[in-house]
Amino acid sequence: MGSNIILIGFMGTGKSTVGKHLARILEWEFIDTDLEVEATTGMSIPEIFRRHGETRFRSEEALVVQRLLEREKTVIATGGGTILNRENRMILDRMGWVISLYAPIATVLERVGSKNDRPLLKKSMEEIKLLWQSRQPQYNQADYVVDTTDKGIEEVGEEILEWVRRQSHAELV
Ligand code: S3P
Repeated sequence: MGSNIILIGFMGTGKSTVGKHLARILEWEFIDTDLEVEATTGMSIPEIFRRHGETRFRSEEALVVQRLLEREKTVIATGGGTILNRENRMILDRMGWVISLYAPIATVLERVGSKNDRPLLKKSMEEIKLLWQSRQPQYNQADYVVDTTDKGIEEVGEEILEWVRRQSHAELV
């Protein structure tokens, strides 16, 4: 297994913020798969969804994940749907510790608030709840799940690092 930390979880659980924080502490690199998709396509995520649809976004996302395979000492913040793809999941599992950031739906909705940069949240509350619910089993298959409710970035980061240090290969951290 590689020495990377991979953050998964629903939109609004703090993957990018916590990921950047961890990378700074560890002096590792940080990669956000959403930003990579935007960089490689030259389009924003809403634009990709609008012009080409979710299927195109998912294939660009899968290409980004495939290019990550050789990485070491990198904290990777995935998009909320990245691990739903079996191949992405297999690659990420091989790359290192997969940590799931959990937040209940009410907290997610509070955090994402009125931001409209996530195409999949432009739906009814009921549909968002169903999406959140349907994905929980996949997020729960992570190596470790952190409940981020009422926790700050530093607290979440520390909990992850403590867990990672307890694992084998802990000398890396
Ligand atoms: C998505 C989550 C988004 C982004 C895209 C689709 C999803 O990333 O990849 O809008 O399917 O949950 P964040 O989880 O970083 O918001």
